[in-house]
Amino acid sequence: MSKSNSLERLRELDRSLVEAALKASAHAYAPYSGFAVGAAVRTTKGEVYTGANMENASYGLGICAEVAALTAANSAGDFQLEAIAIVGHKFTEPRDGSMAVTPCGRCRQLIFEASQIAGKDARILCCNGELTKIVETSISVLLPSAFGPDNLGLVKAWPAMRGELQESLLRLRHRLTAKVS
Ligand code: THU
Repeated sequence: MSKSNSLERLRELDRSLVEAALKASAHAYAPYSGFAVGAAVRTTKGEVYTGANMENASYGLGICAEVAALTAANSAGDFQLEAIAIVGHKFTEPRDGSMAVTPCGRCRQLIFEASQIAGKDARILCCNGELTKIVETSISVLLPSAFGPDNLGLVKAWPAMRGELQESLLRLRHRLTAKVS
């Protein structure tokens, strides 16, 4: 289910997530669309990671704010997605901050991956630039019947695979120290 809410009525944690997303939109590199987007991811640990859209002269290579925020969480080794807030606003003429931004199709699939790994139905807060429109929804609503890591048996397997990754890294480090000493 999706429901509209106001900034004042959001619980404190969600309000600060929305504000973090708005703040992140200041770092958008969006000379082509003039549309700045900020995203803020909250993980099950309660950590917040942010990102902004990053466009490219080769238009199709642009990266959405959600991807940047999810990548920041993953790069910190904290991929357990609980909630994501997205704020977008047009900053060139005709300026517009009135419509709530919803994640594109690719971002929905990426959000689904992170939420299935976390074992959560990630909450999504879609906001306009003025923060006068906030739609609270979840990934199961925005991407129903999705295909994800569970279809490949990977939700159960991934924790052990992460362990293998750490062990492999340890072996590489040992080899390196053996070489330099
Ligand atoms: N964009 C995002 O970053 N996230 C969304 O959810 C919607 C669109 C970006 C992509 C592009 O840089 C600009 O907004 C206009 O589409």
